[in-house]
Amino acid sequence: MKRTRICELFGIEYPIIQGPMAWITRAELVAAVSDAGGLGTLGPAAGEKNQEEAKDLDTVEKRLREQIRKIKTLTGKPFAVNFPIGWGKQKIMNERRIAAALDEGIPIANVSMGSPEAFTQKLHDVGVKVIHIVTSVKHAKKAEKAGVDAVVCIGYEAGGHIGPDELPTFVLIPQVVDAVKIPVIAAGGIADARGLVAAFALGAEGVYMGTRFLATSECNAHSNMKQAVIDADDTSTVAFGRRTGISRCIKNAYTKHHMELEAIGATFEEIREYERCGDNLKGWRRVPAAIIDGNIEYGSVACGSIAGSINEIVSAQEVIRRMADGYQEIIKSLRD
Ligand SMILES: Cc1cc2nc3c(=O)[nH]c(=O)nc-3n(C[C@H](O)[C@H](O)[C@H](O)COP(=O)(O)O)c2cc1C
Repeated sequence: MKRTRICELFGIEYPIIQGPMAWITRAELVAAVSDAGGLGTLGPAAGEKNQEEAKDLDTVEKRLREQIRKIKTLTGKPFAVNFPIGWGKQKIMNERRIAAALDEGIPIANVSMGSPEAFTQKLHDVGVKVIHIVTSVKHAKKAEKAGVDAVVCIGYEAGGHIGPDELPTFVLIPQVVDAVKIPVIAAGGIADARGLVAAFALGAEGVYMGTRFLATSECNAHSNMKQAVIDADDTSTVAFGRRTGISRCIKNAYTKHHMELEAIGATFEEIREYERCGDNLKGWRRVPAAIIDGNIEYGSVACGSIAGSINEIVSAQEVIRRMADGYQEIIKSLRD
């Protein structure tokens, strides 16, 4: 496969990156992706057994250290750790997570939901490479100015949190590529070699996938959640939550009622309250309700719209092998 600046920058064989996914991108998946020649990314809640653990900073730090050490016992290859900066309590938690991760010695930081100015210098000072997550040209330029090493551009098709400007991958990537000099990584709607070759054609130097890696044997998502991805077709997901923070999930009773609340003009607080509780969630918040407890009717089943083309659970290594082989076949077929 074509070697790009992303391969050189991160010391990886293939420019294929596994996106972080909260609870379900633990050390086992991260190491499997990196070992297969891609780049695995540890998710913010990796290794958490229940949501109570997330409230205690000492526990959060201990768990992160354990997960980083576990990755290092499973692979000698480079890996990344996700820091969704956020604000308030989440910001304090991520500052603590960054300090612990630097102490453990991580090669690459994946920074989302925050200013690229906040931590880039601090990470560079100790030799950590920085990937910043963006959803528009404006934010890609800001990240470049702050000195990040590469940007991941998330299109509207992607699973989980997406940009408010609703820019699909196919229009976002070429515009960002034209606007910045640092390498651009394409995300949103990519699950196989076709997406990889298309991303290269648009000028991206790597791809970043969440939903495809959700449906792998090493991913610890609840089996109901994996099955929902396998069962999904092209129209199964919806982007919702324009008032409280837009994300893409599989359509279910939760997304339906959430959209009804927005349609009748419910206040921000009323919608937030519904996101937090209701629907007999047995004490779970919406995301872990789906991911950990397998409640795919009332949980938040984050998933990209490419799920319709994912029809089986395979190993992470198999995902990467198929992309590498498929890449060669497509390139051959495109030659005159
Ligand atoms: C279940 C799920 C959970 C996610 N959790 C996170 C997260 O914790 N942090 C983050 O930066 N992105 C998160 N994402 C976004 C992914 O890292 C990635 O950007 C996205 O999945 C790419 O689009 P795709 O699903 O079409 O491959 C999540 C996505 C999914 C599907």
